Amino acid sequence: MTKPETMDLRPGHTISRVIKGGWQLAGDHGDVDRTTAIADMEAFVDAGITTFDCADIYTGVEEMIGAFIADLRQRRGAEVANRVVVQTKLVPDLTRLEVFSQADVEAIVDRSLQRLQIERLHLVQFYWWDMSRGHALDALGALKRCQEKGKVANLGVNNWDADSIAHFTEAGFDIAAAQVQYSVLDRRAAQTLAPWATENDVHLLSFGTLAGGFLTERWLGAPDPGFAFSNRSLIKYRLIIDEFGDWNLFQTLLETLNTVGARHGVPLSAVAVRWVLDQPQVAAAIVGARYARHLPQTLKIFDFALTDADRAEIGAVLAQSGGPKGPVFGLESDRNGRHGRIMKYNLNTNPDDQIHAAKGD
Ligand SMILES: NC(=O)c1ccc[n+]([C@@H]2O[C@H](COP(=O)([O-])OP(=O)(O)OC[C@H]3O[C@@H](n4cnc5c(N)ncnc54)[C@H](OP(=O)(O)O)[C@@H]3O)[C@@H](O)[C@H]2O)c1
Repeated sequence: MTKPETMDLRPGHTISRVIKGGWQLAGDHGDVDRTTAIADMEAFVDAGITTFDCADIYTGVEEMIGAFIADLRQRRGAEVANRVVVQTKLVPDLTRLEVFSQADVEAIVDRSLQRLQIERLHLVQFYWWDMSRGHALDALGALKRCQEKGKVANLGVNNWDADSIAHFTEAGFDIAAAQVQYSVLDRRAAQTLAPWATENDVHLLSFGTLAGGFLTERWLGAPDPGFAFSNRSLIKYRLIIDEFGDWNLFQTLLETLNTVGARHGVPLSAVAVRWVLDQPQVAAAIVGARYARHLPQTLKIFDFALTDADRAEIGAVLAQSGGPKGPVFGLESDRNGRHGRIMKYNLNTNPDDQIHAAKGD
């Protein structure tokens, strides 16, 4: 088995090019056995997937990763525990943007450090739900002061296209990474963001590479399930498939990924992630996992290379797709649209927050 590739976001900040995603441990994604989920994290680190993505708003997940790191430190020593690179997020609640203070920023950073049981957050990815409300630049300034105090190594952002991130880089902030949805189904990031990010030394960290599990064998040849899922990711990504094309085109894509994978002896999920990793300026793919059960298939991503013929075959299917169109997170930014209605906007102070549609506001 080939070891996962790595990438330097900034000097001294090395990540694995597949990052273990933590959202799936936060609830609404099927059962989570906490003890098993924590124990299984070690298999990722030992396999070379040393970078973990979480968020201040992923309920209970920073604590789980913290429990894992503390246990690893205690059993295997600081050198092994220090291999774990954690990237979290800072996402103030929508309802608090006007009153959100610079002290609130440091309090969230301190809370993340305490939950994660580490002395420095490697990357904090900032997001502000509505730039027309409150003071986003001041909040990022407060995060930079946390960086100067040694509490944060590098700054990142979430779910913004180039024009929004430029707002921060032009104000003098060094943005090491931008986390965005980027997959064979959703190539919005390729339009403006990737070229701009290349010019500005901002690394892209992609999520949605497996479309919440849709880009796996599980859905190959399966009938259209509609939209009635209790798993929040499947609703989110079923909407993205709808933008991509009809269910038949999605099935053609799965068949093509499967044919390419068969040629290399890897699952179609590995082809889907490899395709993203090969796109300009993509530093890593964040692959969500509750346990280590998919880890052997995930590691296959590093066992092969796509050929020009493979890429052309996949490209021929993508050429038939109608979307999603527009900027990164553009569809999702309409809180009353079908992509925006299914999100929760106030998880920072309210872990029991409901989806926007359910609240009817
Ligand atoms: N910034 C944002 O707005 C944002 C949004 C979404 C996600 N994210 C980040 O990205 C991470 C990934 O989330 P995602 O939405 O992009 O989901 P994803 O990685 O596209 O899909 C994750 C799902 O695929 C399954 N899976 C993982 N590896 C597999 C494999 N090799 N074969 C078959 N199934 C496999 C997992 O199953 P199990 O659950 O059984 O392990 C999980 O249900 C999140 O955890 C989070 O860290 C960020």
